Amino acid sequence: MALREIRKEGDEILRKKSRIVEVIDDRIKELIKDMDETMHSANGVGISAVQVGVLKRIIVVDVNYDGSPSLKLINPEIVKAKGKEEFQEGCLSFPNKFAKVIRPNEVTVKALDENGKQVTIKGKGLLAEALCHEIDHLDGKLFIDIMEPGTLEYIENAEEQD
Ligand code: NI
Repeated sequence: MALREIRKEGDEILRKKSRIVEVIDDRIKELIKDMDETMHSANGVGISAVQVGVLKRIIVVDVNYDGSPSLKLINPEIVKAKGKEEFQEGCLSFPNKFAKVIRPNEVTVKALDENGKQVTIKGKGLLAEALCHEIDHLDGKLFIDIMEPGTLEYIENAEEQD
């Protein structure tokens, strides 16, 4: 396992569309482990492969930090979204920057797990927000694109970022 460099605001790769993962080989499994480690080391609640410079449709999400394993999702797709909630959102690619974003407060996501098994994940609140945020990354979309105008702020020592 290894920490990977997190691509930051202004890096063109963050605007690119990630490709479907066709084969889950050892390189993909290694990438997922590295993403998980990199996210936790940066106190993130989510990370997408593009943020470590790999244009593949993979996300890792952990909103609990209670020692339970992170969600590791390959080719994730939102198949159902419900409700609305305002979140104070950040991003590992935008250190210390936060803004208010309105997202669904309940989503259902279909994906493959790291063993290629089809899984369905239901998320509410922060988990719904994190899933939406990371899946947006796979299409080159960033939270600053959908933030409520005028809400972007700089906060040092914040606890969590997507
Ligand atoms: Ni992000």
